[in-house]
Amino acid sequence: MKERSGFVTKFGAIAAAVGSAVGLGNIWRFPYEAGQNGGGAFLILYVAFVLLLGIPVIVSEFVIGRATHKNAVGALRELAPGTRLHWMPYMGILASLMIISFYSVVCGWIVEYLIMAVSGGMRGHSPHEYAQMFGEFTSNPSRSLAWTWMFLLLNGVVLLGGVKKGIERVANLLMPLLFVILIVFCVNSLMLPEGKQGLKFLFNPDFSKVTSSVVIGAMGQAFFSLSLGLSCLLTYASYFRDDERLVRSAVAVASLDTLVAVLSGIVIFPAVFSYGMAPEAGPKLVFEVLPSIFEQMPGGYVWAVLFFLLLFFASITSTISMSEISITFFQEEWKMTRRSATLLNTVLALLFGGLCALSFGVLSDFKLLGMTIFELFDYVSSNVLLPLGGVFFSLFAGWYMERKVLDRELTNGGRLRVYSYKPLLFCIRYVAPAAIVVVFLYGLGLL
Ligand code: PHE
Repeated sequence: MKERSGFVTKFGAIAAAVGSAVGLGNIWRFPYEAGQNGGGAFLILYVAFVLLLGIPVIVSEFVIGRATHKNAVGALRELAPGTRLHWMPYMGILASLMIISFYSVVCGWIVEYLIMAVSGGMRGHSPHEYAQMFGEFTSNPSRSLAWTWMFLLLNGVVLLGGVKKGIERVANLLMPLLFVILIVFCVNSLMLPEGKQGLKFLFNPDFSKVTSSVVIGAMGQAFFSLSLGLSCLLTYASYFRDDERLVRSAVAVASLDTLVAVLSGIVIFPAVFSYGMAPEAGPKLVFEVLPSIFEQMPGGYVWAVLFFLLLFFASITSTISMSEISITFFQEEWKMTRRSATLLNTVLALLFGGLCALSFGVLSDFKLLGMTIFELFDYVSSNVLLPLGGVFFSLFAGWYMERKVLDRELTNGGRLRVYSYKPLLFCIRYVAPAAIVVVFLYGLGLL
């Protein structure tokens, strides 16, 4: 523990976990998933998954990370010596590489939009024209490749250049501002002509729309948005101080993350209906709707620039966190230097990110299992790999690990009274793993 630096303040530790969780998952992915999956019913399922699976799995990752102060593989080696359980996090490494590949494409879109906003390009067009512009630039191979790669290189430079902590600190200072801005946008959206219809779509559940893909989608969204199941939060928790309250921090991360997603929905759906767009438009939804929102807002130019800038920072804290998983692994398991580990991570991401970037243009007809590469990476990581990781971490913390270690971590060595201890343990041991398995079986049509 001594040679690892640790987080100096309590704020630092939780802020880093929130920084990882809050990102495009909340502002881009949540609205498009909710839009495709029927709105209100999806939201209810999503919140239920955050409570029943999300919080217990976050706590499980936190416990394992802080109990050992090691990265995932090292932690499992220590807690399960002589077994092969430490191979499990390899799946998380695969998931992190898949996620960064498609995530960086969307980050590229953010950079493009930021530049468009700054240069005044986000003025004087109809909603239809914005949709067309988006289609044009995402299907243009050189443009989308260029932005994706530029973002990945920037990410690599931040990870290498020793400015990571600095970026995270700036990003965390900016987070509250993002929050305030979202609230302003919510008020603006609610005043749009079809504000009520948007709210109705988001909050009025129509359970007749619930199919197995809606349930799987809601579970996948919970895992993705909370950065859960790939040992990302485990790694952050390995730097937590011993007086950090794990349960409270888990609840804080989950609540903040969910709040940001819901706010984003309140911004987007009233606008979707007011501008006559389709809620089920998919990954392009938010990018087609936002420019029209800014167009109509007083002072729209400033809002647009500020918003995309903040979103950029929120996204880069997330890409830093997902890159760290594979980089630490390459370093500690393959004995690579930090430099070559970062390089390898970046090269892999450039390669697969490139394929994802082309999925909207030249590779749009190249499909596996009916999905483009972008969609496939998104689907497999969020809906399969992360939940599988979740099953593993909850079973490990709930059943395999010695109970006294769990007790010690949850109560900080007996110093804390954790009133939710019993229900939480019940969720870690039974509810979370069982629910994930049930959702899988349902999805496979076996239930
Ligand atoms: N949770 C992040 C977001 O919502 C994405 C992420 C997933 C980050 C997995 C790290 C690991 O944007």
